[in-house]
Amino acid sequence: VADDILAGHQADAGDQAELARRFVIELHLLIRLAAVHEAGNTALQKPAGRLRAVIASLSEANPGWRFRLVADQLFVNDSRVKLDQPIFHAYTDLVEELKRRSIGGITFERTPTEDELLRFAFLIQHAQVTPGLDTLEMTLEGGGLGFIRLDQWRETVGRPAGNPKGQVRRAARETFFGSIFLTGGLLQTVDRQRVVHVRRARRVVQSFLDLLGKDEDYLLGMTNIKNYDDYTFNHSVNVTILALNMGRHLKFSRPQLSDLGLSAMFHDLGKTMLPRDLVNKQSRLDDDEWKIMIRHPVEGVKKLLRIKGVSQVTVKMILSVYEHHVNFDFSGYPNQPLTDRAFLFSRILRIVDSYDAMTTMRSYTVRPKHPVAALEEIWNLSGTHFDPDLAKVFIRMMGIYPVGTIVQLSGGGIGLVVGRKDDGEIRPPLVRVIAHWDEQAPTGEIIEPAEAGDSSIIGYYDFGDVPVNPAWYLLTTEDIYPE
Ligand SMILES: [Fe+2]
Ligand SMILES: [Fe+2]
Repeated sequence: VADDILAGHQADAGDQAELARRFVIELHLLIRLAAVHEAGNTALQKPAGRLRAVIASLSEANPGWRFRLVADQLFVNDSRVKLDQPIFHAYTDLVEELKRRSIGGITFERTPTEDELLRFAFLIQHAQVTPGLDTLEMTLEGGGLGFIRLDQWRETVGRPAGNPKGQVRRAARETFFGSIFLTGGLLQTVDRQRVVHVRRARRVVQSFLDLLGKDEDYLLGMTNIKNYDDYTFNHSVNVTILALNMGRHLKFSRPQLSDLGLSAMFHDLGKTMLPRDLVNKQSRLDDDEWKIMIRHPVEGVKKLLRIKGVSQVTVKMILSVYEHHVNFDFSGYPNQPLTDRAFLFSRILRIVDSYDAMTTMRSYTVRPKHPVAALEEIWNLSGTHFDPDLAKVFIRMMGIYPVGTIVQLSGGGIGLVVGRKDDGEIRPPLVRVIAHWDEQAPTGEIIEPAEAGDSSIIGYYDFGDVPVNPAWYLLTTEDIYPE
């Protein structure tokens, strides 16, 4: 279609819309390619040629046309570029790229040559990310590209949200990574200053609860990333998020949830007193090391008993810290149960803590378990290690294929679980098809896998088998999500 338009001379309104879409696609592609190719690479010639043709057609139809970014939406003159599935990736990615460089608009005073467009793409791609446009404009002028004018991007305050989920996700990422740092600080102050900053900790818990209420799948997905250096802090955050979501599914009250979150956050407090090399050790622990490691619940309790000002939540924390490795059948450690049944928080922590440890590289196991396999293990050990009722709640909450899992589809597709359908109890996975054995088959769409037959899930890929961390990719790439 686009080629016909480019060839034709009388463009009507529909053609204009198509040209605008082509402009977005080609500009995005060229900027992206400039990130991975050397200048002068022939792979860039064709896209540059296509972009040039689109610009020429746009200029012919409307001399003085402008391309603008306003409140997350792209415009050619006053018409908004329609955001639909085929250009979703290019559109949203381009918006992010432009915003990152404070570019709110581009005007071409004349149609650039292919070579000029290539230089433009490289300059944009490799521009220093600065809050203003001054440096970038100077670079363009210096490179003989002064005829390409840029407008400053401005955040529109109080605008109706273009993509409310996108905002929630940005907030979720900031909260998540920020909380790892904060949690580290909170754990260390207990150690050094004998205080628990309860109010600060509750604020972190509160922000997790807010985000879980808005986009549960996304925050749960973040707990899958696990490529970190300091195991205990990130693990504590994951355990807190998973425990809080268990509490939500169990219909805990707000104050109860807050206490559960605090208990989860501090559950491995005792580890901050063990040698760091031991805690972060990747290989299996020998007998002596293990003997030290299993002291951490008791060490944690000792720490909590020394803090100034014991309150009701401290008591809940003490119980949780003491019992979080005690199994449902009272195997596990310490092997001196306090009562004839572990405290509810401890039984929740037993499950979510095991799940996070099992699926993490830096636990005591050599190879991490795939989330699907970890859920199977929890199922198999329910009634012995885990409270069977709580295990059921946990598995239902995670789904058989948790967000961030790479699955194999019948018919030759490979997909990434990007979310779950809001559909009663079961909540089947939503899968984005990321590759297909049949090169002709469409990829990129989000499907709800069938129960059986074509496009049903027939297996999953181990994280070690794919070159990227799927969770990381999933959670840092805005455009991969369903709305
Ligand atoms: Fe522990
Ligand atoms: Fe733990």
